[in-house]
Amino acid sequence: MKEFKRYLLTAALPYANGPVHIGHMAGVYLPGDIYARYLRAKKLDVKFVSGSDEHGVPITIRAMKENVTPQQIVDKYHAIIKDSFEQMGISFDIYSRTSNAVHHKTAQDFFLNLYNKGLFEERESEQYFDEEKQMFLADRYIVGTCPICGNTNAYGDQCEKCGSSLSPEQLINPRSVLSDAVPIKKKTKHWYFPLQDYENFLRQWILEDHKEWKNNVYGQCKSWLDKGLQPRAMTRDSNWGVKVPLPGTEGKVLYVWFDAPIGYISATKELTDNWKDYWYSEDTKLVHFIGKDNIVFHCIIFPSMLQAHGDFVLPENVPANEFLNIEGQKVSTSRNWAVWINEYLEDFPGQQDVLRYVLCANAPETKDNDFTWKDFQDRNNSELVSIFGNFVNRTFVLMHKLCKGKVPPLHTEIMDDTDKALIQEFGNTKTKVENLLEQFKFRDALFEVIDLARKGNKYMQDKQPWIVAKQTTDDGQPKTEAQQAIDNCLHICLQLCANLAILINPFLPFTAKKLLHMMKVVEKLLEWENAGKLKLLSTGYSLRAPELLFRKIEDEEVKAQVDKLEQNAKAAAANEKAVLQTDTKSKMEDEQENKPELKPEIVFDDFAKIDLKVGTIISAEKVEKADKLLKLEIDLGFEKRIILSGIAQHFSPEEITGKQVVVVANLAPRKMRGIESNGMILMADDNEGKLHFVRPENVIGNGSGVS
Ligand code: MF3
Ligand code: ZN
Repeated sequence: MKEFKRYLLTAALPYANGPVHIGHMAGVYLPGDIYARYLRAKKLDVKFVSGSDEHGVPITIRAMKENVTPQQIVDKYHAIIKDSFEQMGISFDIYSRTSNAVHHKTAQDFFLNLYNKGLFEERESEQYFDEEKQMFLADRYIVGTCPICGNTNAYGDQCEKCGSSLSPEQLINPRSVLSDAVPIKKKTKHWYFPLQDYENFLRQWILEDHKEWKNNVYGQCKSWLDKGLQPRAMTRDSNWGVKVPLPGTEGKVLYVWFDAPIGYISATKELTDNWKDYWYSEDTKLVHFIGKDNIVFHCIIFPSMLQAHGDFVLPENVPANEFLNIEGQKVSTSRNWAVWINEYLEDFPGQQDVLRYVLCANAPETKDNDFTWKDFQDRNNSELVSIFGNFVNRTFVLMHKLCKGKVPPLHTEIMDDTDKALIQEFGNTKTKVENLLEQFKFRDALFEVIDLARKGNKYMQDKQPWIVAKQTTDDGQPKTEAQQAIDNCLHICLQLCANLAILINPFLPFTAKKLLHMMKVVEKLLEWENAGKLKLLSTGYSLRAPELLFRKIEDEEVKAQVDKLEQNAKAAAANEKAVLQTDTKSKMEDEQENKPELKPEIVFDDFAKIDLKVGTIISAEKVEKADKLLKLEIDLGFEKRIILSGIAQHFSPEEITGKQVVVVANLAPRKMRGIESNGMILMADDNEGKLHFVRPENVIGNGSGVS
């Protein structure tokens, strides 16, 4: 295997438009931190860098919603995120941000380097433009009626009601989010990076030279390459971001995915004058820690940019993780279905390692995984408390009781096979953990450490020093042989505690610190080369009383967290409604309250174009990979047809089969998820957001007209 002189580890720059949640932690920051701590313990030259991603459309939208400037948004969340990382013990060498000057300059220079090589292709295209605000509109800035479900507040890139992905051109009655004006089409110029020219390089570099990458990563790269690469616009029309460093480009910025990864370079620059040693040398092992939604950017686009620029080292590995769901549902910021790190830290003060443990044990390394509070409690109570904590605690209590609070001597002459077998495990575990960490298998590595503690418990149970201590002489002291057996047991258990401190340190650094304190030893003990050794604590050395490493987590605490999750989600839903209502209200101003804003007037002929028919749902089923869609078969009397309807979250297939409905029968067919939908079902939406079928009062013949 290749030896590297330096390690440069990067963790995806989180968007500074909200706090970080456990999904971010489990997928990106914790694995990165464990790896960084492990390499540092091996005394290797490591830099672990990250920072806030402060550009991009979501940030400007958030600013608009909260009625503040984008800078205020990023300042607020940068501080919250940075603090969460610090408190969770994520040991970045630097946590920077992309709004700072070094970054802007670095990103602009990078762009100019490619520009001067004549790499970009300049292209004109037509984009939606808001004449009132005099600006181009990103897809998210355009709303209109969803052509599929009729939701009047669908975004230019997606309808949040039926889940369809859209392009702004598909919206009916598009309007600008900023001014409500009808956007016009206007020509604009952008700079495209010729990604297709890097296909051969990427095929060789990833598909041939990096077959060792994780399957999920390798597979995604292969499928991108097989689909064929397209030129990609690296500039956008916006006032928020890194300005395009060319004359006459007022109102244009670099595409956020162009500037953000360069943030890794700017952060390294800020951190050390020797940044070129890390970025320009083949002796550097560059590893990107990311989530699966970032794979294409880190494996395809950024490496091509680095290659186009020249000089830069390419990532040696990109161990991307899948997603962590919560209580069976996808994490959603807008629905506030998340466990936020800043809130966890308030609710469970001093219990960072419990979360680190549970998130590592459940890390979505090969597939999406689920976090539940019940599992959090179980893993804490039956693994941290009952195995790891219990072993350390028993050892320290007995050492104080039976060995006067000092490390007892080891009487090698009476060591038996059980003693030797356990000592053997110190080194075995070290080797296993190393091999697993080198392959980014953090969960399995953690389980090996816990398993070693489990073996310690078993050993203690076999030796039973508290029983041996009952073999006393006449004056009540244990017999010599008995004391020697006790000495050996506790000597070995104490050395095991020291080994556990070293092995657990990358995963649970706060716990390792507590162990050091109890053992009265300095941090140097935690150097990785010490793992596997028997003589870490000297005979006769007096140790402190045990500290509580972990405490039991009670049912009430778990229930409180589940309730909180659900309440947050409810509040978010109510809030969303309130926001929509105030939005409409401010537009109506002196109009009467509660009067909804109506669509523009139509004439009778417009209405007469719609053919409404009564039908019966004869079957209904969920559509794979579409949370919101149900596939309905409708009997219209004169024919049967398939209609897709975005109601899966409101009704189960069983409860609606056999019901009559009203169908827009002459709607043009539309394909969704590979299925053609032939019409639309009429639904009424009450004020609580609940849906109700519109249907004739009495069951009537299928095919009856409605007018
Ligand atoms: N902000 C992006 C996200 O949260 C990640 C950016 S990673 C970087 O998905 F490489 F661009 F920095
Ligand atoms: Zn829709």
